[in-house]
Amino acid sequence: MTAAKPTAEPFLPTKRSLRALQTAAEKCEGCSLFENATQTVFGHGKAKSPIMLIGEQPGDQEDRAGLPFVGPAGRLLARALNDADIDPGITYQTNAVKHFKFTRKGGKRRIHQKPNRTEVVACRPWLLAEIEVIHPQVIVCLGATAAQSLLGATFRVSTHRGEVLTLPAAIAAGPAVVATVHPSAVLRDRSDRRDEAYQAFVDDLRSARSVQLRSAS
Ligand code: URA
Ligand code: SF4
Repeated sequence: MTAAKPTAEPFLPTKRSLRALQTAAEKCEGCSLFENATQTVFGHGKAKSPIMLIGEQPGDQEDRAGLPFVGPAGRLLARALNDADIDPGITYQTNAVKHFKFTRKGGKRRIHQKPNRTEVVACRPWLLAEIEVIHPQVIVCLGATAAQSLLGATFRVSTHRGEVLTLPAAIAAGPAVVATVHPSAVLRDRSDRRDEAYQAFVDDLRSARSVQLRSAS
């Protein structure tokens, strides 16, 4: 007998409102990541937000606060949204994986670990349910984890960043998708090209914004 694949599926509520989803997600044990994290970090923003931003997973600060994008990557994202003329109030911000994955180094410091494909797939039912209730006009995948969750494991951000893509029909009809780098990648860039990396990130957000404006009119 093969072991059952980890999945959030049995934890999803029948009622599909944002509030019902968020409440149910607090109790998710769909994969092992709930064991060491402080809490589920569900998405944040209004239902029917026209732009949905998807990161990888909560970081250390998000895990403590229970909200996505409140740490250093979130601050860079906020600045980039501002530079791309996107009001954060029209965005719904979430992650591909809802629990913080980490290792402890030395004493207390918690070091971010990338979620693996099994965890991303296990958590995807929450993300798909969010897409269904938010019904955004455009989805921005911030980094490979989010992009591969929606567009498949072979998707490469480096070859398709900034392009206007569509979701596979099996996921949802409607929203356009733009993939870009993760804000942490811009933060980590210590080279003399960091300003360029930041500008390219802002440009990708701008292209998402123009798609959204076109579909709104
Ligand atoms: N990085 C992410 O991908 N998501 C967050 O919420 C914070 C940092
Ligand atoms: Fe559930 Fe996702 Fe947390 Fe795993 S990471 S326990 S699937 S909410």
